[in-house]
Amino acid sequence: MKADRIRFMHESQFRELPAAPRAAVQFTRPEEAYMILVIGGGSRTGRELARLLRGRGEKVRMLTRPKKAGEAGEAGEPGTVVGDLASPASLDAAMAGVTRVFLLSSPAHDEGAWHRNAIDAAARAGVRHLVRSSILGADAHSKARFIRHHGESDDYLRASGVPFTVIRPNFYMHNVTAGWAPALDPRGNYYAPAGDALLSMVDARDVAAVAAAVLTGRRHAGKTYDVTGPAPVSHAQACEKLGERLGRPVRYVPVDDDTARSAMLGAGLNTWFTDALVELYQDYRRSGADGYAARVHGAVHEITGRPARTLDQALDDELRPAAAASSAGAGKR
Ligand SMILES: NC(=O)c1ccc[n+]([C@@H]2O[C@H](COP(=O)([O-])OP(=O)(O)OC[C@H]3O[C@@H](n4cnc5c(N)ncnc54)[C@H](OP(=O)(O)O)[C@@H]3O)[C@@H](O)[C@H]2O)c1
Repeated sequence: MKADRIRFMHESQFRELPAAPRAAVQFTRPEEAYMILVIGGGSRTGRELARLLRGRGEKVRMLTRPKKAGEAGEAGEPGTVVGDLASPASLDAAMAGVTRVFLLSSPAHDEGAWHRNAIDAAARAGVRHLVRSSILGADAHSKARFIRHHGESDDYLRASGVPFTVIRPNFYMHNVTAGWAPALDPRGNYYAPAGDALLSMVDARDVAAVAAAVLTGRRHAGKTYDVTGPAPVSHAQACEKLGERLGRPVRYVPVDDDTARSAMLGAGLNTWFTDALVELYQDYRRSGADGYAARVHGAVHEITGRPARTLDQALDDELRPAAAASSAGAGKR
């Protein structure tokens, strides 16, 4: 298989977002005493977290990056503040009056510095609880940079003096719908260098539910939670389940690192990001069928009181409503 003919992942899933300009901080309702600052509120986890927190009556402030001129966005809407993890001054302003912070960012070259900036700002602001979204297996000595950078950030947070909780989610189930489905070739093949690794994939809604419980609970400071789904899943199994919902066969085709790297570079991913993904998949292959990435942890059930969603549930929730809407639309034509 020629690398330039395959798409490893849908590139929109793995874009490295451009650095935003350091913006003057704008508050939309400065007089209001917001209590929880959500950083990374545009992610699936962040959006669901904000919804859950507001449903509990919590005051939530969302940090959003400055939008490009003319681009529609949330900045300027009530409950939002414009800022950037690259800009400590904007974080100081965003954390004024805040007692709790949720911290997540895109994977990016500067992710370590961004998280240190937020932790330092939380220390200056006297934040009483910072909940950081990390990654399963985070380890400052890992060969895989995503895992290593998260491990370094977790260590930095633990040493910061800011009361903290670290949440370590495994591979998100929505990668299968949002990342893999658009990357299928015309025959329904999905290419990845995952070997036979099993992953205890997790639904981002469950990660958000854990974060919401931790941010509003009293017994979580100083803890680290591994957040997984209820079962280990192989890429082949996930592809089969995806195919069942799409109504056509979907097949996982394992590829080697060089093929994956060439395909990702060909799809426009930058070198840093491509190498980071290749390293991550090497880590998954090392984990194999029963290593850290396959292991199931009980945090979702223990912390939220509800069982973790299965991949079948996640796929049904995301793909069946779309199928129903499209068949209803077809009926009207
Ligand atoms: N993908 C996985 O399977 C997986 C599994 C476990 C852990 N993780 C980790 O989860 C994190 C990414 O999660 P995701 O893919 O759900 O995120 P995502 O969809 O890329 O969303 C990232 C959020 O962070 C915000 N953000 C990025 N850079 C920022 C900056 N400089 N300043 C302020 N906000 C910034 C983005 O804001 P905008 O709205 O302005 O873009 C967006 O709201 C990464 O740390 C990754 O390593 C991923």
